[in-house]
Amino acid sequence: MIGQFIAMPDQFRLDHPAIDMQHEVLFALYNELKISQEDHEMAFDLGDIFLGLNGYVATHFLFEEELMAAFHYTDTAMHHEEHRRLSENVALLHNRFKQAKTLPEQQQIANDVAQFLLNWLAHHIAEVDRKLVRHLNTLPAALS
Ligand SMILES: [Fe+2]
Repeated sequence: MIGQFIAMPDQFRLDHPAIDMQHEVLFALYNELKISQEDHEMAFDLGDIFLGLNGYVATHFLFEEELMAAFHYTDTAMHHEEHRRLSENVALLHNRFKQAKTLPEQQQIANDVAQFLLNWLAHHIAEVDRKLVRHLNTLPAALS
């Protein structure tokens, strides 16, 4: 099953190549998690998912926040606050994972991470990031 890839659904595409490419990484992590949960022959490795997520929140959020500053986005405070909450939730889930001793506990955390990532895609990307990209796409210089 390794290498199985499902394309990011169009509803999460925002028409900004760099941001879309970064959101594909998040969707790929969600895919990896679902495949790990469904494929019982595959080693269940939530640790790798957290490794990917921790690096992702640091670089991706900084990228968007630099664009907001450079292109004078007016809803910056609300968007920053959402990023802060998402980062905090990743840290909380990761701490739960580090303390989980049993497989059922890990499976419960995997379910919670899957739900968290789905909410991130459906709310933050499809609504909050979409609003940012709408602003950026009115400025041709921001499309890179
Ligand atoms: Fe964002």
